[in-house]
Amino acid sequence: MSKDYFKNKADSYDRDSNKHDTLDKIAGLITSTVQLQPDMCLMDFGSGTGLLLERVAPYVKKITAVDMSASMNQQLKQKIEQIGCEVEIVEADLTTTIIDQKFDSIISSMTMHHVEDIKAIFDKFYAMLSEGGFIAIADLDSEDGNFHDEDTGVYHQGFCRDQLSNVISLTQFRNVKIQSASTIKKTHGDYSLFLLSAVK
Ligand SMILES: C[S@@+](CC[C@H](N)C(=O)[O-])C[C@H]1O[C@@H](n2cnc3c(N)ncnc32)[C@H](O)[C@@H]1O
Repeated sequence: MSKDYFKNKADSYDRDSNKHDTLDKIAGLITSTVQLQPDMCLMDFGSGTGLLLERVAPYVKKITAVDMSASMNQQLKQKIEQIGCEVEIVEADLTTTIIDQKFDSIISSMTMHHVEDIKAIFDKFYAMLSEGGFIAIADLDSEDGNFHDEDTGVYHQGFCRDQLSNVISLTQFRNVKIQSASTIKKTHGDYSLFLLSAVK
């Protein structure tokens, strides 16, 4: 069983109003960048308490919420009835688990920096998408290492957009676009976020 890095954060996670502002911006950019349809089935990778998927839910049929943290999944479970589409929670570490399903889109926010092998997870996303499916992935730009104040299993201090472009150019994804999504303000600095979208 993998460690639940979010055990001490899950209860209070949704109480941070800055997170809601950030997720409003990310979800707004996703819905304006990619063509969501009412019959679509999506996967949210690292869905956490559901802050991203609850904003995207009104546009689609079903979202499969994949997260390895039991405590974050528990928070999502508590609000599942209020979410505007069908939601299925899959408690799994996607880096080591095969989910034998195809999705119309894979969305994600603030999870990629927890993944060691980025190329491998992009390849996995590609295999999990239907033909013409797309990814919309938000995460931190390169940061100074001070974004996280405790160990939540971080492998990357954000991402350099050029390096990310190089990695994704080694995959089969096309129409790759990286755009600015939002900025998280902390007392010790501002941290910008990008949205990467690409098509199978
Ligand atoms: C910072 S939280 C982001 C949650 C949510 N997407 C948001 O933006 O509020 C990162 C989440 O990714 C999950 N996560 C990290 N690595 C994962 C993996 N390999 N497989 C599944 N979930 C993972 C963590 O458990 C955590 O809930």
